[in-house]
Amino acid sequence: MGLQQSNIESLPFVTAELNYLAPVAGKPRTYAYDPPPGEPRTTALPEPHIVPIFDARLIADAISLDREGFALVRHPTAVRNFYDDKEVRSVYYPAAEAFIKATLKADRVFIFDHTVRKRVEGTDDVRGVAPRQPATRVHVDQTDLSGRNRVREHLPEEADELLKGRVQVINLWRPIRGPLRDAPLAMCDGQTVAPGDLVASDLIYPNRNGETYSVKFNPNHRWFYVPEMTADEALLLKCYDSATDGRTRFGPHTAFIDPTTPADAPPRESIELRTLVFHKH
Ligand code: OGA
Ligand code: FE
Repeated sequence: MGLQQSNIESLPFVTAELNYLAPVAGKPRTYAYDPPPGEPRTTALPEPHIVPIFDARLIADAISLDREGFALVRHPTAVRNFYDDKEVRSVYYPAAEAFIKATLKADRVFIFDHTVRKRVEGTDDVRGVAPRQPATRVHVDQTDLSGRNRVREHLPEEADELLKGRVQVINLWRPIRGPLRDAPLAMCDGQTVAPGDLVASDLIYPNRNGETYSVKFNPNHRWFYVPEMTADEALLLKCYDSATDGRTRFGPHTAFIDPTTPADAPPRESIELRTLVFHKH
């Protein structure tokens, strides 16, 4: 089924600039740390496009991870300090694991990492220098290859068995403080993404290489955001799905600057968990 185009076009929206991938020779590569001498930090240069980003609140119940590739959920948390890594792991991880398992009717959920972000004006998203910054490129965290590899990387003993079933990589993203008005997240309706829009790109760490998708502009893309998210709300983002039956497998997303954000809005603070979600067949 999916969302009706006419209904979407009558939703409130903001107009904002999103950074797509500019044409590039070869496989785009980005260093997650200071690059070796003579190499650029990234060959994935931004190509900004101004697009409407529709308010998903009025249609949130009609949106699903399987179809659009994201979902808005209510998920109050007992965590007091998301900057306390120990509390995040001991309080947030188990609660989120149970929540995702129940919400997705999964057999098992494994949380493999998390990222806390706090926007600091004029700061680039460079690891180890300042808090992680909002991600200002349209991307998908995993690819067909790296999504699958995550299972071998994190659960090597059980990987063969787990890979016989359905595997998803799902992020649980939430504001640390709400209502969030600064640098919200935009999600692309996965049904509007053509396979050729996704460009596998190397992400190079000191000790390993990851692969993510950069995304080429396509005027068919339909973008959504959830205005003024509260600290009781969260987004589920689909970053990989082994299912190849027509469900959305990869959900592009990016932070964006909302031109309607009041000048005195507090800077965005958010946390995202990255999780492996398993279904036996
Ligand atoms: C994510 C992500 C970007 C941001 O959660 O996968 O890309 O700015 N977040 O929060
Ligand atoms: Fe992401």
